[in-house]
Amino acid sequence: MKRDIELQYKTSIAAYLHTSPDHIFLYYKGRVALYAILKAMDVHQGDEVVIPAFTCVVVPNAIKYLGATPIYVDIDPVTYNADLQCLQQAITERTKVIICQNTFGLSSNVEQIQALAYSRRIYTIEDCTHGFGGSYHGKPNGSYCDAAFYSTQWNKPFSTGVGGFAWVQNPELASKIAAVNSQMEPATRKDALSLSMLYFVREKILTEKRYWWMIRLYRWLSRHNLVQGSSGGAELISTLMPDHYFKALSATQMKKGLQNLQHLGDAMALRKNNARIYNDYLRQHGKTFVSPALFDDHSFLKFPLLVFQREKVLEMAEKQHIPLGEWFCSPIHPVCEHWEQWDLQGDKYPIAVEKASQMLNLPTDEKNPDKVIHFLEEINDYIL
Ligand SMILES: Cc1ncc(COP(=O)(O)O)c(C=O)c1O
Repeated sequence: MKRDIELQYKTSIAAYLHTSPDHIFLYYKGRVALYAILKAMDVHQGDEVVIPAFTCVVVPNAIKYLGATPIYVDIDPVTYNADLQCLQQAITERTKVIICQNTFGLSSNVEQIQALAYSRRIYTIEDCTHGFGGSYHGKPNGSYCDAAFYSTQWNKPFSTGVGGFAWVQNPELASKIAAVNSQMEPATRKDALSLSMLYFVREKILTEKRYWWMIRLYRWLSRHNLVQGSSGGAELISTLMPDHYFKALSATQMKKGLQNLQHLGDAMALRKNNARIYNDYLRQHGKTFVSPALFDDHSFLKFPLLVFQREKVLEMAEKQHIPLGEWFCSPIHPVCEHWEQWDLQGDKYPIAVEKASQMLNLPTDEKNPDKVIHFLEEINDYIL
């Protein structure tokens, strides 16, 4: 039964990526997929892994769990992905892997990074946790690197509550990752039950009016490991691998993923349409906007909004019931201080630090974009 649904789920994902289900590997979360890929690449102590300084803390965590060192690269303020020149400068003879990201759903410079890495026998991984369904030069995000990983967490292009998968292109890695996966724990009945309860709350109880207090409650509960959260408390305060981290996706998650994949096309069209509406508004009002040249490939999981006084704008959003996103409030979101244990020195990445201090995200899955435009009018003086 589990095998049937697993094949069905992998086949559906593979169809979107124009690949074979044999190249798709399923995990309890996207970060676990990254960990498995790094392990299959034999990343270990002494190795360096290059990542953008505008990511989620679970990315450097996966690197640190293997004893390797994350090497951060400042970002390009247009794409919010790694700046190509800074990335070139970050490469040393210890570089084993370069991770390129599709921040908010936009990939950039992937071919150049791939070529750069290939000539130096460095592996490449695409962090497609924001970009499933989007493309780069006409091919699905994740097509160009040795491997890519994706997230199906709540806020992602399609959701399984928490969840993730890897697409492994490099044939040598495919057999290695299968061996790595044999060490994976199965998800427990308790995991599946607790996720089913969260699906119910999300679908039946969460409304716009309840959004802010429920999200705060959910974050508090997950930080204290009382519900299945995106990140457990330990991941935000330590670089030691939590117990039961290397875990497989459950059949409950696969079923939810299959249901939600059916709506992906409509969901993507809605996101792009809303992004156009927000972008037109910002452009017409002399604010920072996304270059229309980037629209073809951008899948707009989130729409970047740059503001003065982030906290004040969040307060106003809460009052008006606007589900404003907070990615990324830090180069290693959501950890805002004590970055040393993640080997991050903020002053080396001025653009990433500045953008993180200004960044909020407009919801692109909004059924009523007029409400968001009205909110933009209200906060006009705070928008950069
Ligand atoms: C850029 C980035 N990479 C990796 C991840 C991890 O994905 P997951 O929560 O599925 O482990 C996230 C989570 O949002 C992310 O934003």
